[in-house]
Amino acid sequence: MNWKEIYNERLMSAEDAVKKIKSGDRVVIAHAVGEPCHIVEKMAENNRQYEGVEIVHMVPMGKCSYVNPGMEKSFRHNAIFAGAKTREAISHGLSDFTPSFFYEVPKLFKTELPVDVALIQVSPPDEHGYCSYGVSVDYTKAAAEAALVVIAQVNEQMPRTLGDSFIHVSDIDYIVEYSAPIIELKQPKIGDVERAIGKNCASLINDGDTLQLGIGAIPDAVLLFLKNKKDLGIHSEMISEGVVDLVEAGVITNGRKNFHRGKIIVTFLMGGKRLYDFANDNPMIEMHPVDYVNNPVVIMKNDNMVSINSCVQVDFMGQVCSESIGLKQISGVGGQVDFVRGATMSKNGKSIMAMPSTAAKGKVSRIVPFLDEGATVTTSRTDVDYVVTEYGVAHLKGRTLRNRAKELIKIAHPDFKESLIKEYENRFFTSYSK
Ligand code: COA
Repeated sequence: MNWKEIYNERLMSAEDAVKKIKSGDRVVIAHAVGEPCHIVEKMAENNRQYEGVEIVHMVPMGKCSYVNPGMEKSFRHNAIFAGAKTREAISHGLSDFTPSFFYEVPKLFKTELPVDVALIQVSPPDEHGYCSYGVSVDYTKAAAEAALVVIAQVNEQMPRTLGDSFIHVSDIDYIVEYSAPIIELKQPKIGDVERAIGKNCASLINDGDTLQLGIGAIPDAVLLFLKNKKDLGIHSEMISEGVVDLVEAGVITNGRKNFHRGKIIVTFLMGGKRLYDFANDNPMIEMHPVDYVNNPVVIMKNDNMVSINSCVQVDFMGQVCSESIGLKQISGVGGQVDFVRGATMSKNGKSIMAMPSTAAKGKVSRIVPFLDEGATVTTSRTDVDYVVTEYGVAHLKGRTLRNRAKELIKIAHPDFKESLIKEYENRFFTSYSK
């Protein structure tokens, strides 16, 4: 049979495709905006037919109906990253949480978390029968390769991204054609605080550096201050719209990268239609699986690698919590530590943890003597390098515990400095002004 015959033979409705999922199966859903929402919703509608289906997922962007009340018997959600729609379920014990570095997730699918069914979303096949994973190669490709059954939503609106981003029609068991716009992320609000943080981060970035940018308002604010830089490169877990602006302005050329020169290397995309259109069939962007892109040994191959991520709290020792508020899981480690380590290992590399100095509308300081009870140490004190707030830059690597605390207090919000100084003096038996 040629691939066109295979394709036609395996075509079916989403309603029929989800009947292939059996009670007790482990189902992995493609990551972030790669989620095949049409199939996932049909699976949730079919809930009465299942018992104990385990749903494994990282950043959830769809409706997440499988964690709704009444679904407990049919589904058990196992999150590797919490999102707006799954946080409450996790904190109330209705969902489980499995900590994992992002780059190790593909390995989990071959070892501790074998996959029964992968639900993926791909572009229509090209003339050779290859579909592109589009916006989400990350762990999605590994899940499909490990799964006993692959069910794919073929979406004509999925961009055809290049790199190690393809699956052949013959490797898909059931095909559902469904056209829908790729989920778009709202543009983050960039206020004065984010601008000041962006400016401080930009002061650490030099012409020719290769950047990793995390998610949210802060990385976007950093990009605003890079317009006068030259020949920047990108090797990042994800990119959003801000990168498109800098490519169009001739700032991001990837021309000085010493690894994958000329290419933007990413594992997933998350932004708006402008980003997805930019990535479509664009040889400047290469998508690769996350166990490649986020592997610290791969990341370090570019000299002058700078990683920029955000966090929730930093304690006096430089322990960084980026994924929980106390015991409440709000996100996950994602690729943060992968890039902190890769950037630190890179020749002349830097890793930056950027955050507003306060949270909860200014009521709490993010620089604290101790992390909240139950908080996760996401980036350890031995890994941390630079911490940036709207008040400046603290360089912690190679510094004593006492000097770390001092550096951090310098960039704390003025409202909290007095109490932090008191804590400092109690802990270190010395005057802060010494
Ligand atoms: N105490 C109490 N509440 C806090 C807090 C603190 N120390 N820090 C944050 N919060 C609250 C905020 O006020 C906000 O509440 P709101 O939604 O009611 O306004 C909420 O927690 C989210 O915090 P915020 O800092 O606004 O989130 P963000 O969208 O900028 O994301 C991280 C920041 C740290 C959560 C995010 O970067 C992350 O998940 N990082 C880990 C993963 C990662 O770095 N991946 C790598 C690249 S993709």
